[in-house]
Amino acid sequence: MKVTTSGFLETGNIMVIPVFEGCNKAPNNATTNLNRSASIAVKSAFASDSFTGKLGESLSIWTKECQIILLGVGEKNDLTTKKSRDTGAKCFASLSKNHGTKIVIRYTTGWNVKNMAAFAEGMILRDYSFDKYQKKEDDKKGPWSLMCQTIERHQDALNSAVNRAYEIATGVHLARDLGNEPANKLYPEEFGKRALEWSKDKQNVEVEVWNYARLKEEGMYGLIEVGKGSIHKPCMVFFRLNPSANKDSEVPCIVGKGITFDSGGISIKGSAGMDEMKLDMHGSATVFGLFQALHATGYEGRINGITCMAENMPSAEAYRPGDVINTYSGKTIEVLNTDAEGRNVLADGLWKASELKPSYIIDLATLTGSIVVALGHEATGLFSNNKALSGKIQAAGDEVDEISWPMPLLPAFEKQMTSSKIADVRNQGKGRWGGASQAAGFLKQFVQEREDKEGKKSQIPWAHLDIAGTAGIWGGETNVTVGHGATGVQVRALHYLITQK
Ligand code: BES
Ligand code: ZN
Ligand code: ZN
Repeated sequence: MKVTTSGFLETGNIMVIPVFEGCNKAPNNATTNLNRSASIAVKSAFASDSFTGKLGESLSIWTKECQIILLGVGEKNDLTTKKSRDTGAKCFASLSKNHGTKIVIRYTTGWNVKNMAAFAEGMILRDYSFDKYQKKEDDKKGPWSLMCQTIERHQDALNSAVNRAYEIATGVHLARDLGNEPANKLYPEEFGKRALEWSKDKQNVEVEVWNYARLKEEGMYGLIEVGKGSIHKPCMVFFRLNPSANKDSEVPCIVGKGITFDSGGISIKGSAGMDEMKLDMHGSATVFGLFQALHATGYEGRINGITCMAENMPSAEAYRPGDVINTYSGKTIEVLNTDAEGRNVLADGLWKASELKPSYIIDLATLTGSIVVALGHEATGLFSNNKALSGKIQAAGDEVDEISWPMPLLPAFEKQMTSSKIADVRNQGKGRWGGASQAAGFLKQFVQEREDKEGKKSQIPWAHLDIAGTAGIWGGETNVTVGHGATGVQVRALHYLITQK
């Protein structure tokens, strides 16, 4: 989608006029450059009782030149960026290229730049489909274009806000592409290849892939044990943006769970909905998409990413319940359930992240069914050992409407997970209650401590985002910026967190 900003010039093929409630007269500029009959039709629609501007209301006016859509956004004083973004996204979903591909949005009296940009962002985010494996009639109509029209005073600010939204959306859409790829097309090695390919023409980016042989040399058996049952062997992918910037300062490290398919392994899952487990690498997809978004917006700070890629399959070579894993950290894991595999691979990823001396670590993982029971598809589960960090993540999520909801990291859960009779930790709790907190209590064992200037030891600030409920839309309606499939969740929130001073 091409995005531009201008004054009230052309009308496009589809002209969207978002309208505040109670506006019963066409606002200034609504009809600029419309011909006489179209202009009369728009003015009559505003004056009529059939359109009041209530949130969600929409009225189409058909003219020879263009389809004009009046779109209610509710009371002006109640308008939020969320309402604006969602209204834009829903409107975009209702459009058809049969009327042409040039969309014009006319922001008339009373709009501020933030809400204008959010409305356009909704459209940009929603302009996504994963149809590469579908036979298509030639798409002769070409891509959409979007022209945002406002008064001159707002044009520069709106232009940069909308362009930034567009750049960030390239990362969201990349994460969705990766999440939607079926597991026979996107397996660990292929993910590594795509990351290398992506880095090729980017001067300030480094990608390194540790293959199976290297994982063995390093002793990364958390990742190896989970992935060895598949013919597609595991790997670890390192993302480095601006590696030569801020050399002497600590920088964040973002870690992603990258199970390209989670069959459950020997503790095999039931078949209902198992296809959705191609999405079990969304943590890694978010990391990749985040790096794309940061690169596209010209972020100049240094930042590291690690993704732990494996396919969890049952086979004669697969790991078993009862096995003991020697992780990279030196700690051992008693495997009680091979379907609790995400935490095993993250054990190595988190320990490695700790070695990079990060300012903080955030991991993203479609980790537990439990978090979906707790929060549905409405929010990502947020666990953290650090109040300041978790507060910032929550605030970033609220800002861009990718909500993270704080969940408890209680000592009792850690105790449960460290109560194995034969190893240092166990990969399953003692019962099903608090499953998401159990998993977080497990992960915490693999975040290293460090000393501050006074020699006091404490754990590296760390947050764990359980995105099992928010990574995919399978017929749900909670995230209207997505039609179906992978959501690209947390790319926007983490981009905001990292780039905000
Ligand atoms: N990938 C799943 C979690 C999941 C569930 C993601 C639903 C997305 C939607 C994870 O590996 C898993 O199987 N977790 C188990 C852990 C249990 C065996 C301790 C779970 O949550 O049931
Ligand atoms: Zn699993
Ligand atoms: Zn999994």
